[in-house]
Amino acid sequence: MTFWNQLWTTKPIEAELGDNELKRTLGPWALTALGIGAIVGTGIFVLTGVAAANNAGPALALSFVVAGFVCAMAALCYAEFAAMIPVAGSAYSYSYSTLGELIAWFIGWNLVLEYLVSISAVAAGWSGYVVSLLKHIGIVIPAAFANAPLAKGAGAMSVVATGDVINLPAVFIVLAITALCYFGIKHSSTVNIWIVVIKLTVIFLFIIFGLHYIVPENWHPFVPDRVCSTAGAVGDMCRPGKYGWMGVFEGAAIIFFAYIGFDAVSTAAQEAKNPKRDMPIGILASLLICTALYIIVSLVLTGIVPFKELNVPNPVSFGIEQVPALRNWLAPLIDIGALAGLSSVILVMVIGQPRIFYAMSKDGLLPPAFGKVHPRHQTPHVATLITGIIAAIGAGLLPIDILAELTNIGTLLAFLVVCIAVLVMRYTRPDMPRPFRTPWPWVTCVVGALGCVVLILSLPHDTWWRAIIWTAIGLVIYFGYGLRHSRLRKR
Ligand code: ALA
Repeated sequence: MTFWNQLWTTKPIEAELGDNELKRTLGPWALTALGIGAIVGTGIFVLTGVAAANNAGPALALSFVVAGFVCAMAALCYAEFAAMIPVAGSAYSYSYSTLGELIAWFIGWNLVLEYLVSISAVAAGWSGYVVSLLKHIGIVIPAAFANAPLAKGAGAMSVVATGDVINLPAVFIVLAITALCYFGIKHSSTVNIWIVVIKLTVIFLFIIFGLHYIVPENWHPFVPDRVCSTAGAVGDMCRPGKYGWMGVFEGAAIIFFAYIGFDAVSTAAQEAKNPKRDMPIGILASLLICTALYIIVSLVLTGIVPFKELNVPNPVSFGIEQVPALRNWLAPLIDIGALAGLSSVILVMVIGQPRIFYAMSKDGLLPPAFGKVHPRHQTPHVATLITGIIAAIGAGLLPIDILAELTNIGTLLAFLVVCIAVLVMRYTRPDMPRPFRTPWPWVTCVVGALGCVVLILSLPHDTWWRAIIWTAIGLVIYFGYGLRHSRLRKR
């Protein structure tokens, strides 16, 4: 086999399926709750404010429609794979079986952006809400110890010092959850269902009470005129800039973060009672419920507060704080609900990332240490520690916008490949039983893939460069290590 052909070697699906050592306990309700548990977090509780103030204005609701539509296409593709190849490795495993080892590595490496970097991003969101909650009970954390010391600068790829020291609450929550996972907490389905109930309750309370305080003038104009950032630039498409129809797409590329997590349902495929039926239900139902809630929340939020004021770390409780009648009782409740919700997202990601490292290590693409299982706690402890330490450093030092944008580009690339892989599989393995078939694959997969490309292009140029640097580092590791140690090739 030539060197070139080796890069595209695919892993037989039968080898992916292997033996299942995990217990099958999850039904459709638990899987849907798992999805909502992983989805509802920093995106809705924090980034709605940033995206409304800096990108879309009141048209943020349209950004949610755009991002939700792209995710729905990708979700249909995930559902086909998750029912057909119900294994824990998710997009990494799907691409190994369809598009070959090099693409699988690329996706696995991008999933690190999705999982590991999102831990830091969600922790930064958690920090904003804990600071707000403590303030309600009279404890003030000095700003220098509750904010990242680095922020985006004005120039391309520039990062500036903010004068703050470290985002200490963010570091704390990452390390605390890493410790839990190191010692082997199971993301128990019952605990997850309770957390989902809490976070959905606070969202419903926000909607029900907030509805009465909407000032319709705040929605006019619904799509504000485009404002260009570069001196002398004009036009609806100028970049960099904010608002306008372009801003709707730029907003969608940011709040895409809010939808990440439905794919985490697919990583529980080996624990589902009836994956062939329940995987598609869990993935699609959780996405549908969250999309509806997000659109309503963004409308209520931009209706209560003028969108330009929303660039704060805790926009949902900030919105309620603007209403004197609700300020004292509802705002702290929202803070508590958000904290519970954000913690569960971090937990899902801290459990998910080491599993992906584990799968890649078992395939020989990462050193054996990543696949080590603790003799007593039976957890992938080394991978968990590495995940926790790197995520804590990111959470302590980097601002939420850089972290969220990086997460988004990594996830969008993974979704893009999954959309393409579904089509490829229809031709390479037409015989394979497909308990769930993506409807009109030529439309769904192609529109899904194009939608991912549009969102990637709508992200700031800095993010593309960061992703290119990340990919280059990944390629060095693959050619320096993975290629020589790949189990598949040795076999
Ligand atoms: N969708 C998850 C969140 O918004 C990652 O926190």
